[in-house]
Amino acid sequence: MCGIIGVTGARDACARLVAGLELLEYRGYDSAGVAVCDRVSGDLFRARVAEHGGSVERLSGRVADAPEDPGAAIGHTRWATHGRPTEENAHPHLDCTGRIALVHNGIIENHRELAAGLDGRGHKRTSQTDSEVLVHLVEESAAAGASLTESVRRCLSVVRGDFAIAVVSAAEPEVIVAARRTSPLIVGVAASVGIVASDVAAALATTRELYALGEDEVATVRPGTVEVAALDGSRVSPRRVEVSWSVQRALKGGYPDFMSKEIHEQPQAVRDTLLGRVDASGRTEIEELAIPDEELASVERVQLLACGSSYHAALAARQAVERWARLPAEADVASEFRHRSAVVGPRTLAVAVSQSGETVDSLHAMREASRAGARVVALTNVVDSVMAREADGIMYTRAGPEIGVASTKSHLAQLALLDLLALHLGRVRGAISGEELAEAAGALLSLHEAVETAVGRGDAYRAVAERFAHVEDVYFLGRRSGLPVAYEGALKLKELAYVRAEAYPAGEMKHGPISLVEPGVLVVVVATRTTLWEKVMANVEEMRARGATVLAVADDGDEETERLVDAVLPVPHVAEACSAVVNVVPLQFLAYTVARARGNDVDRPRNLAKVVTVE
Ligand code: AGP
Repeated sequence: MCGIIGVTGARDACARLVAGLELLEYRGYDSAGVAVCDRVSGDLFRARVAEHGGSVERLSGRVADAPEDPGAAIGHTRWATHGRPTEENAHPHLDCTGRIALVHNGIIENHRELAAGLDGRGHKRTSQTDSEVLVHLVEESAAAGASLTESVRRCLSVVRGDFAIAVVSAAEPEVIVAARRTSPLIVGVAASVGIVASDVAAALATTRELYALGEDEVATVRPGTVEVAALDGSRVSPRRVEVSWSVQRALKGGYPDFMSKEIHEQPQAVRDTLLGRVDASGRTEIEELAIPDEELASVERVQLLACGSSYHAALAARQAVERWARLPAEADVASEFRHRSAVVGPRTLAVAVSQSGETVDSLHAMREASRAGARVVALTNVVDSVMAREADGIMYTRAGPEIGVASTKSHLAQLALLDLLALHLGRVRGAISGEELAEAAGALLSLHEAVETAVGRGDAYRAVAERFAHVEDVYFLGRRSGLPVAYEGALKLKELAYVRAEAYPAGEMKHGPISLVEPGVLVVVVATRTTLWEKVMANVEEMRARGATVLAVADDGDEETERLVDAVLPVPHVAEACSAVVNVVPLQFLAYTVARARGNDVDRPRNLAKVVTVE
């Protein structure tokens, strides 16, 4: 997690840093800081603030004291891993001379060993972070006369772990040295400016000429130029990043928060994601997939890998693959997959699902599947993300930048695209009849309209949700297609409203958890009309008999369900196979409303970061 931005060659470098940090805050918001080289005095200015959710705003006041003639400047917004979120642990970290500053995203695995060596050689460390060792290592080479670039290279050659770093030195006041391993970093140039950023959104206001750094590459960024080399110093041609987003898409655009904006962008996200990839006859085409149909036809099983909301999309996809492609499919939490002895081979299609394309657990799971011989596809929302670069094939959701920590539009886009992948596999394998194919394609193509209807009911959903703003104990239940929706609804309520919420297969409650059901417990159930509706309602009866209050996601006009529960969140009816895309929408509003009623910041919930780049 953590956001990095660096600018050199701009008089308004500090304003650009702050604007960039505002856009990067979603990556972490425990603390923030900047370091700026002073071209006049030759000194290094540093300011840091540790205030949950308000660090960048307060930092913008502090940079008023920054040099008037700035050289290279770097900034950071932090999600604490090693060391509490205090000012002394905030980045940038300085070396012992106070003339070199460094920001870091990732984890330095051998930091204890490195720190012991540094302490023994007389360095004074001032933080509890793993990151600080890096700046002292750079200091040692610089003191021996090496350039900043060479010093960074030497430092990284002894480091184990994941990192994206940016370093400046008062001795070379116009240079930023940037490097990465696993954690992403891009560099760019515009006329006489150079830029470094952990993602495209933060760099776009400066330039669209952006390059992605590869593994273990080190960039020397000067005003208007970038040189990239491998760790051994050999020159590398940087790879240009295709930018399809505009800066505006990463702004709130009149909504009170990013989450509201992103919920309202969901119909477009679903429509754009399917656009041109399926037609009414059921002809499917996934252009970047780059795995020939003949090879897909010989796949024997599908292994889905993901975390959080993406994992819930993977759970829904498992059902779609079984239904349409008639292939055995499994969905695993990525952080568990790589540590179990999963049986994966050359006839396995591994699909790693990740909004950001840089979740480190998913990335490692994807690499593990690839090592075991599977063909690996990254299904991600971020073009050129680390996972997209490493996979054999890519499937991009086209949801646009998602800034709110809670996944909303990217989740719906994932569900839709995974449905499409399942259909595609079914078609190339000949596992689905032409008639079924056309029917499923029709359902997918009209999905965005149903999502639009659901999103348009936001006020009505909010009014129902307000009645439950006080809840403390919630079960989310569903069966078959309703189960991944229940998981997602519970996750949203937990992460945004800080309410204990558990999701369960409705039929499983009676095997244990029902002992916890009593008056005061809220049960949220996905009770749309499927062939399992009667069974779901029998489970609802079991909850009500023990005093639970029941709130149901139900089909429009379903009076029978309405009579059997305490309140309903009505949704337009769609084919069960793709119903998760619609049914999750009222649960997003539920979580949003309960969170707001409790005064929580929905875009930046406590303890979380949008992009999880630590294991
Ligand atoms: C969802 O609301 C969460 N913020 C989180 O669970 C997220 O889905 C998870 O961290 C995975 O992220 P990714 O899709 O970027 O890999």
